[in-house]
Amino acid sequence: MGFVEVRDVWKDYVVGRVRVTALRGVSLDVDAGEFLAVTGPSGSGKSTLIYLISGLDVPTRGLIRVGGVEVSRLDQASRASWRRRNVGIVFQFFHLIPTLTALENVLLTMELAGIPAGKRVERALELLEFVGLRDKADRYPWELSGGEQQRVAIARAIAHNPPLILADEPTANLDYENKLRIVELLREISNSGKTVVFATHDVELARKADRVIRLRDGVVVGSEGGGGAPSKISP
Ligand SMILES: Nc1ncnc2c1ncn2[C@@H]1O[C@H](COP(=O)(O)OP(=O)(O)O)[C@@H](O)[C@H]1O
Ligand SMILES: [Mg+2]
Repeated sequence: MGFVEVRDVWKDYVVGRVRVTALRGVSLDVDAGEFLAVTGPSGSGKSTLIYLISGLDVPTRGLIRVGGVEVSRLDQASRASWRRRNVGIVFQFFHLIPTLTALENVLLTMELAGIPAGKRVERALELLEFVGLRDKADRYPWELSGGEQQRVAIARAIAHNPPLILADEPTANLDYENKLRIVELLREISNSGKTVVFATHDVELARKADRVIRLRDGVVVGSEGGGGAPSKISP
């Protein structure tokens, strides 16, 4: 039994009169502190799986449990408040708030998660230090490169200390060096005891995780150990 349990999950999207079945009976477990990559070609269901685990959406059929909470059975409001406290999400296009600085983007997440005001600034600066951007805390997103924006997004995703970090194609818009840096940060986050699930169509990057699950047409077609160091060393 994992920290994340996905049991026979099916997901249909209905668009007009057309039904698309994005997931067809997916089951998997992710252990606490594991770094799992979900890979597969475009349209294989990676994003759908990430959204369902995050509680942004619910399965058509099947069950998702995270840390013992059956997320797939919560109503929308309960899922939203559960997610704000328990999940950090990193997206392909960063989604930083353009009118807030790097520091303010990180602070906002802490405020939404109910972290006391007195503790926020010091922790936000520590997180920006962790992602190598302490000196750029006062920059706006448009004053940062793509790789830097994604590092701010990672600092923001872990700002409220959630046990689960989900990343959906976080490296897709970056050059090779920045792709590696983002995956290294995800590795360090998992080494600090967080559970990390990382969706990518990039098979080479996926191999840097502890384990790789392969999806095709909404079905798990393979699972193998990645090349990443399995040791759990605290940063
Ligand atoms: N909101 C949506 N509405 C309708 N179809 C969708 C939606 N999201 C995804 N799909 C469809 O579900 C399938 C899986 O998509 P997705 O989970 O985005 O795969 P991936 O992330 O691997 O590219 C695709 O056929 C896609 O077109
Ligand atoms: Mg996707």
